[in-house]
Amino acid sequence: MSAKLRAIAVDDLSEDQARDELADLAGEIATHDKAYHQYDAPVITDADYDLLRRRNDAVEARFPELVREDSPTQRVGAAPAGGFAKIAHKVPMLSLGNVFSEEELADFIAGIRRYLRELSTDPSIAIEMVAEPKIDGLSVSLRYEAGKFISGATRGDGAVGEDITANLKTIKEVPQKLTGKVPDVLEVRGEVYLPKSEFRLLNERQAAAAEKIFANPRNAAAGSLRQLDPAITAKRPLRLFAYAWGEVSERTAETQWDFLQRLKGWGFPVNERIRVCSSLEDLMAAYRDLGSARASLDYDIDGMVYKVNRLDWQDRLGFVSRAPRWAIAHKFPAERVETILKDIGIQVGRTGVLTPFAILEPVTVGGVVVSRATLHNEDEVARKDFRIGDTVVVQRAGDVIPQVVEVLIERRPVDAEPFKMPESCPVCGSPAVRHEGEVARRCTNTLTCPAQAVERIIHFASRGCFDIEGLGEKTVESFYADGLIKTPADIFRLADHADALRRREGWGEKSVQNLLVGIEARRTIPFERFLNALGIPQVGEATAKLLARHYLTFPALRAAMEAARIVGSEAYQDLNDINGIGESMADDIVGFFSETHNAHQLDDLEGLLTIEPYVRPAAVESPVAGKTVVFTGTLETVSRNEAKARAEALGAKVAGSVSKKTDYLVIGADAGSKAKKAAELGVATLTEDEWLKLIGEG
Ligand code: IVH
Repeated sequence: MSAKLRAIAVDDLSEDQARDELADLAGEIATHDKAYHQYDAPVITDADYDLLRRRNDAVEARFPELVREDSPTQRVGAAPAGGFAKIAHKVPMLSLGNVFSEEELADFIAGIRRYLRELSTDPSIAIEMVAEPKIDGLSVSLRYEAGKFISGATRGDGAVGEDITANLKTIKEVPQKLTGKVPDVLEVRGEVYLPKSEFRLLNERQAAAAEKIFANPRNAAAGSLRQLDPAITAKRPLRLFAYAWGEVSERTAETQWDFLQRLKGWGFPVNERIRVCSSLEDLMAAYRDLGSARASLDYDIDGMVYKVNRLDWQDRLGFVSRAPRWAIAHKFPAERVETILKDIGIQVGRTGVLTPFAILEPVTVGGVVVSRATLHNEDEVARKDFRIGDTVVVQRAGDVIPQVVEVLIERRPVDAEPFKMPESCPVCGSPAVRHEGEVARRCTNTLTCPAQAVERIIHFASRGCFDIEGLGEKTVESFYADGLIKTPADIFRLADHADALRRREGWGEKSVQNLLVGIEARRTIPFERFLNALGIPQVGEATAKLLARHYLTFPALRAAMEAARIVGSEAYQDLNDINGIGESMADDIVGFFSETHNAHQLDDLEGLLTIEPYVRPAAVESPVAGKTVVFTGTLETVSRNEAKARAEALGAKVAGSVSKKTDYLVIGADAGSKAKKAAELGVATLTEDEWLKLIGEG
């Protein structure tokens, strides 16, 4: 009956019908909330859920007197998205880089050697590393003050997690009070997991009670920990392994190994299979031993983690983007499963690239059902000779997206034909061309291909960019189709079409209001987010930040890009010199700004938005903050990379070549032409010692 009612436009509902439908919606939405929050097993997509909520809002907006007590709009207390309060991590919870082979591991260690100069010059110094099992559970951060458990959070996005203190309190292995002498503030990080034996028992109980069956122990642990009712968590025998720290008021160890021993002393469970290794061979032996023991362990592991043992070295090595330079995960080989390649689809991205993807007979790999997988590009399809109807091998390693790795030729149907990439865009029909030297075939219609335009707008409104609530993929697609949004700037003109929005199926006054408020809230935007949103080829979040940090304001960047169009100009050199920007990137960036169509769109956006200048992260108090520094020649005490990272941490800009804007040129042994150029330009030069004194480390 509800489906029938839902087909009626809100404006045409009678009062009785509205009353019935609100009752239906209240029940239905509550069921989905429960499935999502309590069982971690949503049965409908987020988009469909949103449709239900919007329909409910729209009906209520027309019949305010019919709003029920149990209406989803009347529920207070529960946060709409997560259901838990948020906790900001004082020290971010980062992830780990991966290696999958001995060669990759050797490269990783060589990188550490290069970075710590004393190791590169003296190969006899061993790098001790602690090898720890990589537990496949959920990472948590536990905060203790004066030895008492205060609060606990999930990892979330690494910066902000969910407050699951009440649930963590039900886990016996999470100590409530620590023993011995403990730092005043101590955040311990570790993995909550459900033992395999308990996982099997839990699923038996769930089956008997006709409740949800969990796919694997990790999902079961997640489902158990993210319960809004801690009484349910308490019934699940979750356990803990502690292995790292967040905020600490006082250092109590000099090595990773000592720290793990401290953790044990304070009362935390620490995995028994940890080892100190001092060579690649040792690490590989530890890895193989763990691999052989894997099946017999009562907890899931997905590899090993190696961490530099000396904490002073960990500090110096620091982080690259979101992963430490001093630790790496060595994953076990991915699970592989056979299935049928039913079809090859083509996706058109925001830069017009045509990407082939596999449409598969659904299979479970590594605990999830896979029905689509990327095929990367035209060459990959040709090289592996994927044909529709083939039996293929699909693999999924940890959280990596599924891949089709191989074709079983002997099982190929006789009539299977080689796949040919379309020569026209499957969306707009324009020629799709592959230029020499490029791996990608692109739709040539950059200006009006709907797929490109829609993908660009989706990207523009997405989380790392304008982050406009209520403007997800489906909404952008339908607004585009109806001509409400044709370019990113149109988003900021939507308010002029409020009436048209209100007339849309499933959109009521309230949802229109919410969307428009969400849009207004983003009319002012930080420079780096704006840049990321533009979808300049090769420019993602990290590069956008580099550009913002260098040029500080959007008008300054535009002017510089205008000047950089001249080959060999100082402006071009300046862009190319930014640490992390190479020639091909520089060309793409300059190319983007020089295109007339883009220039019009940028003018349009600048007229509608306030683009905030880049704000330097909490001004570092240092004599080199804001200065531009160039290093040249071989340094004695630190590697070039460590010197650069240190300078950047102190707020300096590190450039690759000397110009008028250079404040200091630091000269090591065998310096070349840069010293000469500095002398010509009157740039201050420093020896390595002078540099160290300047930054207070000499
Ligand atoms: S250390 C900055 N040690 O793996 C480094 N992580 O892929 C912090 N994990 O988010 C992580 N066992 O949830 C570390 N012995 C171990 C681990 C471990 C499992 C998880 C952790 C982390 C993820 C990274």
